[in-house]
Amino acid sequence: MKDSEIKRYYKRRINELKNHNKHYFVDSSPKISDKEYDEIKKEIFNLEKKYSYLKSTSSPSNSLGYTPSKNFVKSRHRVKMLSLSNAFDFKDLENFEKKIFNYLNKKIELEYSVEPKIDGISASLTYKNGLLVIGTSRGDGTTGEVITENLKTINDIPQKITNKDFPNDIDIRGEVFIEKDDFNKLKNNFANPRNAASGSLRQKNPLETKKIPLNFVAYTYGYFESDKIKKQSDFLSSLKKWGFKINEHNKVLKNIKDLESFHKKFENDRFDLKYDVDGLVYKINNLDLQNRLGFTANSPRWAIAHKFSADSAYSQIRDISIQVGRTGALTPVARIKPVNIGGVVVSNATLHNEDEIIRKDIRLGDTVKVERAGDVIPHVVSVDFKKREKKSKKFIFPKKCPCGFDTIKEFNKVTKKYDAVRRCPDRGFECEKIAIEKIKHFISKEGLNIDGLGKKVVEKFWDLQLIRFPQDIFNLDYTQISKLEGWGDLSVSNLKFSIDQSKKVSLDRFLYSLGIRHIGIENAKLLAEYTKSISNFLNFVKNKKINEFLNIDGIGDTQINSIKKFFENKSNYKIVEKLSLLLKISDLKFNKDGKLLNITFMFTGKLSNMSRAEAKTLIEENSGSVVSSVNKKLKYLIIGEKPTNRKVQEAKELGIKILSQKEWLNLLN
Ligand code: IVH
Repeated sequence: MKDSEIKRYYKRRINELKNHNKHYFVDSSPKISDKEYDEIKKEIFNLEKKYSYLKSTSSPSNSLGYTPSKNFVKSRHRVKMLSLSNAFDFKDLENFEKKIFNYLNKKIELEYSVEPKIDGISASLTYKNGLLVIGTSRGDGTTGEVITENLKTINDIPQKITNKDFPNDIDIRGEVFIEKDDFNKLKNNFANPRNAASGSLRQKNPLETKKIPLNFVAYTYGYFESDKIKKQSDFLSSLKKWGFKINEHNKVLKNIKDLESFHKKFENDRFDLKYDVDGLVYKINNLDLQNRLGFTANSPRWAIAHKFSADSAYSQIRDISIQVGRTGALTPVARIKPVNIGGVVVSNATLHNEDEIIRKDIRLGDTVKVERAGDVIPHVVSVDFKKREKKSKKFIFPKKCPCGFDTIKEFNKVTKKYDAVRRCPDRGFECEKIAIEKIKHFISKEGLNIDGLGKKVVEKFWDLQLIRFPQDIFNLDYTQISKLEGWGDLSVSNLKFSIDQSKKVSLDRFLYSLGIRHIGIENAKLLAEYTKSISNFLNFVKNKKINEFLNIDGIGDTQINSIKKFFENKSNYKIVEKLSLLLKISDLKFNKDGKLLNITFMFTGKLSNMSRAEAKTLIEENSGSVVSSVNKKLKYLIIGEKPTNRKVQEAKELGIKILSQKEWLNLLN
């Protein structure tokens, strides 16, 4: 084919695709199957690849060739989509019933429709004469977004219902969700299955929605006129008869004691379900009674959601791997089947140490309870022994570090016991695993704080043998780095800039960055205040005067022994010496009677025109201190851009003052 013919053919295919887009998106009446549609698209891509001169603004490689409206059309719900009030314990359930009895002015036996509360996105489907005419999201409860085409891609949603009992005009409501296994297969970076369902439902292009396997269970109605159905449980059976999926665990129970025991059982059993459930919904089964009870401003009086614990979950241990920390501690980590704990999908949980594994008898394949609260690393709490397989064997903790060295358990002279932690004896940079962790510590926020050189980059540079020791960071081969995938000129020059910037470091931060065991930020500060300069510090070491540090209030035998051990290793001494020549380590001049004496601060969110490290130094230069968690000792929480809501909330609850960056700087004048 001649070039001109190829161009003509290409244009024709593009136009065909444009027409099909219109049939699909505008008329909701596709003329070809999805498969045929995808084939045209693929052919266009192939042509573009083969003949570089082909390019059209309507090419599907630019967009879909059709730009649907930026925002979805809105639609007012005929009956509001309200939410449910929550119960967390038995007392809340008692209160819920009490309120009902008060409202009705009498005590009666209540029957409940009990339904698992699937953690997804609610949707409302309007059927007229058996046809799905409009599908909406909940939106703000009064008005939703019209997402009919996206909802139509879900197989569980019938588009045409011929059952003769099906009402002529009804809104069916239910939950759109994605199953856990399907979520784990997704490549997208959604935080949890609920976000994935929501993101998928709100795609501008229904073909994108279709790519994610969504499900729908129906559980209630919006607009509906009928006097035939008398109970919620009967409505659920009708939904099934009409062709909707309903939850297989729905049931009817009579009193709140039974609700409580069913809840207890279901709370554990839920982890065997294919989807995330975050509680149970209890609805008064009698629909006449529901009508009498009606609604408060936001929720029905006749229903409540009894939530499950949001900070623990059960999952299965698939593997146990051993991580080596900066100080040589071997930490066992359980690789678990991904599980949603309060909205975060967790796939690793720490097992702390060898003794913990023995004490709790944790084995491969066990079903375990995993807890995750706040910023704390998820950890394994206990084993569900009932679920243990007969042939399971005790876990044998490796006696060697992955680097090949024999490990040790130290004897603690104070407690007269062996340490619970097994360690690779810290041989400086000889153990590869320790070395890489030491470098990560060196560049960390509290250490040299090198922007653009995060943990992942350190790992990559390590694998490429670009770094082996901290000093290598200051002799990087930037030409080689600029050739690496994902590294453009700009990121290389940014990295170079922040490495140069990091050369100016205060003595305390430098001493901390060395990663000497038992020398955290506070001890590093004490050492810096005492020795004043790096040359002084090195003189103490060289002249074997480390014992003099015992004069420092706060430094004891443990720290002294650790510093000695660190410098007994000749290569450690050489590294510090080399770094002291490469860096500009400033002497310490901390103010002991600054404006902020004894005042603790914490930051959340991004500060403007200032890094966290700079802000911290500013506070410390004025005798204040910075902490990293909200607790009673905290005086001010300083909020920058996009603060962590939880931290702000916690601070409010503790009555801690919240300052903007400007207000904080005003404190300093
Ligand atoms: S009934 C007026 N039933 O929970 C009450 N809701 O906070 C209407 N949900 O937005 C809701 N399973 O997304 C109801 N079996 C169930 C449910 C359920 C999940 C969700 C729904 C709603 C939220 C209520």
